[in-house]
Amino acid sequence: MKIAFFGGIYNNYLALQAAIQDAERRGVDRMFCLGDLGAFGPHPDRVFPLLRDHQIECVQGNYDNSIGNNLKDCQCGYTDPRDNWFAQISYNYTYANTSIENRRWMSTLPSEIRFEVDGIRFLLCHGSPRKTNEFLWESTTSTHFLERLVTDAVADVVLGTHSGIHWQRRLSDDRLFANVGVLGRPENDGRTNVWYAIIDTGGAGEGNADADSLSYAGSVLLEFIPLTYDHERLAAEMRAEKLPDEFVNSILNGWWTTCLEVLPGKERRRGRY
Ligand SMILES: [Fe+2]
Repeated sequence: MKIAFFGGIYNNYLALQAAIQDAERRGVDRMFCLGDLGAFGPHPDRVFPLLRDHQIECVQGNYDNSIGNNLKDCQCGYTDPRDNWFAQISYNYTYANTSIENRRWMSTLPSEIRFEVDGIRFLLCHGSPRKTNEFLWESTTSTHFLERLVTDAVADVVLGTHSGIHWQRRLSDDRLFANVGVLGRPENDGRTNVWYAIIDTGGAGEGNADADSLSYAGSVLLEFIPLTYDHERLAAEMRAEKLPDEFVNSILNGWWTTCLEVLPGKERRRGRY
């Protein structure tokens, strides 16, 4: 079975549209979203019909929990005042432009989704299995810690998003942890594409040996997919909605201008700022 996993959408309905088309072209059987439907981009309500029309099951991200429950902020987990200031602009815009029906629907989303395919136990979460807004970065998350996390979660494959940068690590007993990336904004690498992941549960022996994009865990093959979409149109719509230039610039040039404070040194050194 081939399954697509989309991370934070951040109102980027154009990337979501492109991801659905791309995944369907690759012959996926199911699609999931790991939460954070809102933030950052324009026109929040344009995301929901796409999710419903394509039967995309969603985990509740911190953003969805906040919007759905009428909270005052996004629970994004930033500590820097500048990051929180920009996060609040996004949050207020997204809240004001999300219908009551869609807000209500977000409040009903589960904090995790479990299912089993071919004997492989999947656990989908947002940040980590133990905390919705936990940042798990590649450079600062030890394998020892991940082993314990995945054991406690009683799963073979654990998938999350939240931090905004994709990575994966194979664990003992053919288990796998992966951050599937986000559709909402590029990865602070000077490129405008975004990322999602496809898992093929019958994938062992297929694909190539590119360790950056492929991971085999037992018979599970995880592939990270770089996705281009009409980012110039998104930027124009963000400008028209009077969203901050800092956000628009990230979409146009692929460098983060906000939320840098949460990045560990290694991930931060890959960026421009
Ligand atoms: Fe999040």
